[in-house]
Amino acid sequence: MGSTAHTSDTRLARRIVLGIESSCDETAVALVRGDGTIIAQAIASQVAEHAPYGGVVPEIAARAHAERLAPMLEKVMAEAGLGLADVDAIAATAGPGLIGGVMVGLVSAKALAMAAGKPLLAVNHLEGHALSPRLADGALAFPYLLLLVSGGHCQILSVEGVGQYRRLATTIDDALGEAFDKTAKILGLSYPGGPAVERLALEGDTKAVPLPRPLKGSSEPHFSFAGLKSAVLRAVESGAHAPADIAASFQQAAVECLIDRLKLALESAGPFPALVVAGGVAANKSVRGALEALAATHGMRFTAPPLALCTDNAAMIAWAGLERLTLEGDGYTGDPLDFVARPRWPLDPAAEAVRGAGYKA
Ligand code: KG4
Ligand code: ZN
Repeated sequence: MGSTAHTSDTRLARRIVLGIESSCDETAVALVRGDGTIIAQAIASQVAEHAPYGGVVPEIAARAHAERLAPMLEKVMAEAGLGLADVDAIAATAGPGLIGGVMVGLVSAKALAMAAGKPLLAVNHLEGHALSPRLADGALAFPYLLLLVSGGHCQILSVEGVGQYRRLATTIDDALGEAFDKTAKILGLSYPGGPAVERLALEGDTKAVPLPRPLKGSSEPHFSFAGLKSAVLRAVESGAHAPADIAASFQQAAVECLIDRLKLALESAGPFPALVVAGGVAANKSVRGALEALAATHGMRFTAPPLALCTDNAAMIAWAGLERLTLEGDGYTGDPLDFVARPRWPLDPAAEAVRGAGYKA
């Protein structure tokens, strides 16, 4: 505990890991150094391919990863002026996520690791998100309280060290980003819905539409957003409210749920020196503002990685690999080449399964 992220050991600081991410709808490759430098990276979003369907289609995603990954790897290595011999390990997301896409990235990493004789690091995508704040903020030490809010995940984690995560809460139905996306769809806004809902909410009244705050005040620690989404649907169908008011009221309800659940987590597992947010929903200014205020009232430092590191990316996967190399020390040979991709892979195996949580668990 307590060790800050960016090492002062010059030998470790010079280590380089190649990272690959392909678990959802972003194909990404990055080269990251132990001192926290992102040497080169590339990311290709598949938003255009999935937009007609209003969500990610697994088969389309897997094919798009397969088409893009190899040229992207070549481009990133060339841009950095590095060859595989210069890399200390190859890290790839090995789950949780859409299994076709995960397999594309993991199999590519295995081939590179085998060809170059370098360790393979099979990284848990959630661990990438959980540690990415340490890539962005070299002074961030363990432990910290992490709110991970994206399209696929909605969790509160106590991050106690590399490989040491305690899940304090997860969603029993939808992830928050998913609720934003579904709300956007109901309101007839474009995909992905989060930014569109946030923009529309700026013109609306947060108190205009009475919407539920699922599980607010409950002693059960988890999140639930399905009821909120259904209430949005009813509000739209009633025809009684302006879309901007619905967007603003939805966002307000969601933020209140986040804060309420975080307060409970702080009561049960706190205090924490720092509060950290990661995942695509961290882009939302109302969410950030409320988290900042919560941190201030609890005497916690608040930090959020820059947006490019909040959403899915490969730098966070490479960084998680670097953290593991540092933890394991010299002679570490990484994961076996027969490591099997995992559609589900909870960060905290001791956490109880939660009904309806799907791969978000
Ligand atoms: O982390 P991310 O890129 O991918 C996943 O792992 O899911 O998160 C994407 C999610 C989407 O659901 C998107 O609607 C949401 O993050 N999002 C936002 C905002 N920007 C992205 N939600 C609310 N407000 C935003 N400004
Ligand atoms: Zn993610």
